[in-house]
Amino acid sequence: MADQTINFFHLLGTSVWIGGMIYTHFILLPSVSKIDPGESGKLQGIAAKRFSIIAWVAIIILIITGFLKTPGEMLLNVSTQFGVVLLIKHIFILGVVLVGIVIGGIVVPGLRKNMPNPGEKPREKFLLFKKRLELLATTNLILGILILICASMLW
Ligand code: HEM
Repeated sequence: MADQTINFFHLLGTSVWIGGMIYTHFILLPSVSKIDPGESGKLQGIAAKRFSIIAWVAIIILIITGFLKTPGEMLLNVSTQFGVVLLIKHIFILGVVLVGIVIGGIVVPGLRKNMPNPGEKPREKFLLFKKRLELLATTNLILGILILICASMLW
């Protein structure tokens, strides 16, 4: 039962995090670009802040449940294929955490600070932060897919 609960939360964290990134990338961002730039900028700033809170909770749950799932002797053990794949997965996870820190600590505050008012043309600085957010969000989506590829090799 304990193992099933841990697996459940590992899968729930994965679904929320990867599902949220796919929704943001393929549904939210293309949709907000179709409305008034001032309104879309505001919505994008609010959505990015909300999603980064949810994504951090999911990542923390994944790291805790991931450690609980790992057989003790397999952590940092590169003498088996399982250990090597797990290590590669951990490197990608570290990348996700670093990108997340840059998004949450620099890009989202910059985006919100330079947010245009409704009807106002977005400033140069706002567009720059928006571009950075899109680039970093794409990087994390690619890292997420690579983590899933590694996870599928752990079975
Ligand atoms: C972004 C973070 C992570 C994602 C998206 C992720 C995703 C997954 C998925 C989808 C599975 C397969 C389903 C399952 O067994 O529950 C899995 C399995 C696993 N994950 Fe993670 N994981 C993450 C972080 C971690 C961390 C930090 C660790 C270890 C410290 C870890 C260790 C494991 C282990 C040991 C398995 C099970 C392999 C087996 O069934 O034999 N994961 N992960």
